[in-house]
Amino acid sequence: MRTYFIAGNWKMHKTRSEAAELAKALVSQLKDGKQKYLVAPSFTALETVGNIVAGTNIMLGAQNMAAEEQGAHTGEVSVLQLKDLGVQAVILGHSERRHIYKEDDELINKKVRLALKHGLEVILCVGELLEEREAGKAEAVCETQTVKGLEGVSAEDLKRVTIAYEPVWAIGTGKTATPEDADAIHAYIRKVIGKLYGEAAAKAMCIQYGGSVKPENAAQLMAKANIDGALVGGAALKAETFVPIAKFA
Ligand code: PGA
Repeated sequence: MRTYFIAGNWKMHKTRSEAAELAKALVSQLKDGKQKYLVAPSFTALETVGNIVAGTNIMLGAQNMAAEEQGAHTGEVSVLQLKDLGVQAVILGHSERRHIYKEDDELINKKVRLALKHGLEVILCVGELLEEREAGKAEAVCETQTVKGLEGVSAEDLKRVTIAYEPVWAIGTGKTATPEDADAIHAYIRKVIGKLYGEAAAKAMCIQYGGSVKPENAAQLMAKANIDGALVGGAALKAETFVPIAKFA
């Protein structure tokens, strides 16, 4: 019933020419792909990649944006500037933003609401640290991040939100959550959405898994009832690894 959504987060990698090369390879190799696809290059490569993916089945995403529309915010990039480049979606609340750059739930929520106000789709990332998992707090952390991240978001706007469950201990470490562990948290997040927005919204919510997704584990993860796609980091940097993930079926 839900469409699978596979997104590549290129993080702080690739010059424009490198990004263009990867984008071209993905356009040609995914044109017969059956899922929903997105690539999120660095800000500097958005225009280049946007020109290559325009009119294809690959959406253009940004990795972050400012919480304000415009103004005196040195070093920030605004939603208006992203839209001007043809950006269709934005990743918000990534664990690297939360933990390295100290973005809190309140700031992330402000960004979520601003992106939705301007018509973008949002991938809202949630996920627990290793010590939180070991202390039995994985569900509570994901619930708080989901509830706070979505504060003030209408049921109508929620249709443009995807949640990415990314256990922080699995990101870039090679350690993937087992499909069973990931599915359990996805089910829990879906329950949280149900409490906030009702059963139909919970059923419709796309919940991606992220954290060391690779060609070898993608199909097993996607086979789980509550896993609706992937947010891919390291393996998204090469067509040889991203395409098999994107075509897992
Ligand atoms: P990874 O990153 O696939 O390299 O673990 C995932 C992410 O940070 O979105």
